[in-house]
Amino acid sequence: MASMTQSRSATSIGSPDGSDEPALLRAARRQPARTPPVWFMRQAGRSLPEYRKVREGVPMLEACRRPDLVTEITLQPVRRHGVDAAILFSDIVVPLRAVGVDLDIVAGVGPVIAEPVRQLADLDRIPRLDPGQVDYVGDAVTTLVGELHGTPLIGFAGAPFTLASYLVEGGPSRDHARTKALMHGDPALWSALLDRLADVALTFLKVQIDAGAQAVQLFDSWAGALSAADYAAHVLPHSAKVLAGLADLGVPRFHFGVGTGELLPLMARAGADVVGVDWRVPLDEASARIGPGCAVQGNLDPALLLADWPVVEREVRRVIADGRSAPGHVFNLGHGVLPNTDPDMLTRVVELVHSAAD
Ligand code: CP3
Repeated sequence: MASMTQSRSATSIGSPDGSDEPALLRAARRQPARTPPVWFMRQAGRSLPEYRKVREGVPMLEACRRPDLVTEITLQPVRRHGVDAAILFSDIVVPLRAVGVDLDIVAGVGPVIAEPVRQLADLDRIPRLDPGQVDYVGDAVTTLVGELHGTPLIGFAGAPFTLASYLVEGGPSRDHARTKALMHGDPALWSALLDRLADVALTFLKVQIDAGAQAVQLFDSWAGALSAADYAAHVLPHSAKVLAGLADLGVPRFHFGVGTGELLPLMARAGADVVGVDWRVPLDEASARIGPGCAVQGNLDPALLLADWPVVEREVRRVIADGRSAPGHVFNLGHGVLPNTDPDMLTRVVELVHSAAD
C-alpha cells in the first residue's frame, strides 16, 4: 500500500468567512458558518461548453486516464463558478477498468460490462487493485492540489453496492432485479463480491488521499433501491469497511445516495462525517433522522435549475434555511447537474449561497 497520509494545512482561499481552514472542511467538521460552502455533484461535465470542447473525440475512459485532461476538466467549474470545492474528474468504474474488468462508458447510457458477474468463478475477474494501476489518478490529484491554491479537492469512489449493481446487471438498471436476486439467492457470493469491491474502493480512495485529496465522497447512488433491512444486513458492513479504513487519515468522509430517506441513519452509522441527502427529504428532517454526529449535504432538486430564477432563488434560500438546524451544512444538489442546465444558473446559485447570511 502507498505511504501514510499526513495531515496537511490549507490556506484561506475558498473560505468565505476568512478563517484559515477551507469552508468545506469546517462545515464537514460541524463548525459554525455564516453561509454554507457550496459545490455541485457532476459540476465537471456536460453542462459546460468548455468541457464538451476538450472532450471532443476523446472517449470518457481515456479522458479519465489522461492527467492533463483530468486536471483541466476538474478545474473548469472552479474557475467558472467559484465553488468551494473541486471534485476529481473520473468515474466510479475507473478502478474496475484498472483491475482489468472489460467495460466501457457508453454516452447517454452509462457503464456497460461485457461479462456480468453471476457466479463465484466470475469473482476471479475482479482482482485487488494495486495502487500502481491507477498512478495516473494520483498524478492528476498531485497536479490539481498545486493548481487549486487551497480550494479543497474531493476524491471519490463508488460504494460496493452501486459498483456491484453495474457488475451484476451488466449496465444501468431501473429495478436492480438481478442484483437483489443475487443478494438473497447467493449470500456467500454476494458477500465475497462486496468485500472485494470494498477493497477496490478503499485502495482507490487511499491513492487519492495520499496524493493530496482533502475530502472523499463514497457514492452509493443506487442504495435507495433497497429496504432498510436489506441495506443493514447486506450492504452497510461493506461500506463500513471502506469508511473505517479511512477513519485515521484526517479527511472528512461524505456518504451519498439517491432515494435514501429511509436509509439516512444507517448511512451515517456506516461511518460518514457528512451524509448526502437528495431532494425528497428536507434537510432539517434529514438531520433529525441522522442525528447530531454528522453534517448534511444537499439538497436542491437539480431539475429546478431548469426553472426561472425566482423559483431557483426561493428554493436555494429554503434549502439554506432548512440546513441551519443541522450541525453542519454543505450546499449541493440532491443529485448531479443535469447536462442541459444553463451554467450561468449554477454561477448565480453559488453567488446567492455565498451572500445568503441572515
Ligand atoms: O463533476 C463530477 O461529479 C466529477 C465527475 C464524475 C463523473 N462520474 C464523470 C462522468 C463523478 C463523481 C462520477 C461518479 C459516477 N459515475 C456515479 C456516482 C454519481 C451519480 O451520478 O450518482 C455513477 C452512478 C457513475 C456511473 C456513470 N458514469 C453514469 C450513470 C454516467 C452517465 C451516463 C450518461 O452519459 O448520461 C457516467 C458517465 C459519466 N461520468 C459522464 C461524466 C461527465 C458523462 C460522459 C461524458 O461526458 O461523455
